[in-house]
Parts: sequence; structure tokens; C-alpha cells
Amino acid sequence: MELRKIQDAEVEGKTVLVRVDYNVPLRNGGVLDDRRIQASLPTIRWLIEHNAKLVLISHLGRPEGRVVEELRLDPVSEYLESLLERPVGKLEDCVGDAVSNAVSEAKNGDVLLLENVRFHREETTNEPAFTHELANLGDLFVNDAFATMHRAHASTVGIADHLPSYAGFLVQAEIEALSPLIRSPDRPYVAVVGGKKAQSKLGPLHDLARQVDEIMIGGAVAMTFLHAMGIDVGASVVDHKVLEDVGAVRRIAAQTETILHLPVDVVAAPELSAESETLICSVDEIPDGWHAFDIGPETIHLFRERIVQAKTIVWTGPMGAYEIEPFSNGTRMLAEAIAQSAAHGVIGGGETGEAMERFGGAEHAAYISTGGGACLALLRGKTMPALEALRT
Ligand code: 3PG
Ligand code: MG
Repeated sequence: MELRKIQDAEVEGKTVLVRVDYNVPLRNGGVLDDRRIQASLPTIRWLIEHNAKLVLISHLGRPEGRVVEELRLDPVSEYLESLLERPVGKLEDCVGDAVSNAVSEAKNGDVLLLENVRFHREETTNEPAFTHELANLGDLFVNDAFATMHRAHASTVGIADHLPSYAGFLVQAEIEALSPLIRSPDRPYVAVVGGKKAQSKLGPLHDLARQVDEIMIGGAVAMTFLHAMGIDVGASVVDHKVLEDVGAVRRIAAQTETILHLPVDVVAAPELSAESETLICSVDEIPDGWHAFDIGPETIHLFRERIVQAKTIVWTGPMGAYEIEPFSNGTRMLAEAIAQSAAHGVIGGGETGEAMERFGGAEHAAYISTGGGACLALLRGKTMPALEALRT
């Protein structure tokens, strides 16, 4: 099944609702990581050139149906204006009379940005009346929010039921880059999985264990695994809610002969600070009250050896607290190894992409997806409801 593509749509003089993912990190009113905004530009510019009226829709964070001042899209709007070098009409809501009036008054080639769509609870519940109100704002729908494609929300799935719907250029590029990993990955296929939240990685690990040949686990995810295996990891973060899932992942890996690599040593410290005293020790020798904040040199060596022989690599989640110098080595060395490898490398998740850009060098050959959860959902073989809505 093919996707309906934006380049096949008749957009001239039409009002086009464009779902983008501007769920970007903000600090002090500024955009910290602009990659998702940059990635939306080809679609926006194409629509402007083709004389459409653009109504951009995005969420930011998880405000859970309330107006949260810090989650307004104004900083994003200003940033987009500077990239496009033209005004972006930022609206104060995403539905209501003021919004529909502003859309009617806009001219072809104008760009409007609706307020954070998750200020309304009906967005995530895909409430029919709300969906209808959103859809009524436009003639066509373009979904370019790859990072939100695993969500069946009003602005991702709902609108597509009401309007002719098309995949934007970013969505097309992501699908093209990620599809080979689903259909016929070159082997050995290895996964590198880390990050702070074990819970968000257990589901993906469960499925990846059936697909890949080897998995290297780092970050806090690894501490939860080691704890589940009976190792005392000191005061390191352990997610006790997922210990059973760890057992399930290990069983699947054993059945499918997927090798799970866990850290053998770590960089431990009493607190997460650049000035903190640190110790390199084996995983079962973390002092009482100390935390593991990075994988150790022996683990880095072991993981790098596995990366070097791989033909396909997927990486999600840093190996440690890489933003703080004494704990950056694991993430830096793996980013370098993946960047230099000739394998087809795919990086999922905002933090991991940021780490790859920081440590992997500008010329790195890896594909950095704009999606975290969405990228993993696709690679795991999950159905992506918002993508299904764009199929012919
Ligand atoms: C993301 O950052 O992963 C996407 O924007 C989706 O956000 P969500 O996990 O809050 O649905
Ligand atoms: Mg997420």
C-alpha cells in the first residue's frame, strides 16, 4: 500500500491543514533543539510556493487538556518566522470563532500556527466534535508529524477521516529511511538501547529481541536489567515496575538466540555533578549510596567491537548522563563508532540525535530520525494509525 503524497495534491488556492511535530525542547523562551522545525521546512516551503494557505497544527509537551503557559507555541512561532523569513500568524487557540475568522481572513501563501492542540483534552481522545471543528478549518490535510504518527489523536488520525489527506516530505523521507530495517535488514543487525526511563524501552526491547541479532543495553535501562538479575547496583536508578518485563525480554532473547550485552563496568559517583568524585568499578562493586552514571571503559570496548562488525545498527537512548563531562565517554565513544561504521545506522529519539550530532561529527553517515517513540514503533512493526490514514 502506497502513501498519498503531498506532491500529488492540488493545493493551489486551498487552505491546507498541516500537522507538524513542534514538540521541541524550550528554555528561557528559546528553542534548544530546532531539528524538528528545520525538518518541516520542505513541506511548508512547497505549500507556500504552490500558493496554498497554511494552517500549522502541533502539540507541545503533555499539558493534559489544560492551558499551560510554558507550553504555548509562541517561541516556536518566532523561531519559524526567522527560518522562513516571513511572518507566521500565531493564534491563541486551535478552535473557536477567533481561529476560524483568522483562517478565513488569511491569504494564499500566508502561514498560521494554531496554539498547542493538547490544551484541549479532546485532542488525545480524538473526540468527534473537536475533530470536526479542526477539520472544518481547511480543505486538505497534510500530515508531516512523523514523530507523532504512533498517536491516534484528533489532529493525526481524526482529521484524516474528514479531508483528503497526504503525507508531507518529512514523513516520506522517514519511511524511506526506516523501511529497509523492517523489510530486509543486512545482518548482523544490532540495537543499542539506553536512556533514563527503563519503562519506555521495555516494550521496544521485547520486539527488538525478535528482530535483531544482538542488543547492547546501557543507561538506566541497564541498571534495571542488572538489578533484575540479582546484581546490587548501589543507589543507581532502578525501575521496579518493569522487573517482570526484564525477565520476559531475557526469555525471548534466549529463545530467538539474540545476544543481550549488559555493562560489565561503570563510572560511579555519589552525585550527578561535574565536580563529583568518580570511580570506575565493575557493576557489582558500586559503593553503597553511589550511582552508575555511565558505562565504563571495558564495556565501551566490548560494545564498540559489536558495532564494528554490524551491518545494520539502530541506536536509541544515551549510555549515561552525557551532558555532564565525567559521564559523557560511553555515549561519545559509541556515537563515534556508529558514525564511523559503514553499517546502515538509524538514530531514534531527540536526545540520541543530539548526542550523535555533538559527538559523531558533521559527516556522520547515520540517519537521525525526528521520531523517538514513533521511530521505534515503526521498527518494532507496530501499526502506526496516523500513517495508515494516509495510505491509498
Ligand atoms: C515525541 O516527542 O515523541 C512526540 O512528539 C510525541 O509526543 P508524546 O510522546 O507526548 O505523544
Ligand atoms: Mg515521547
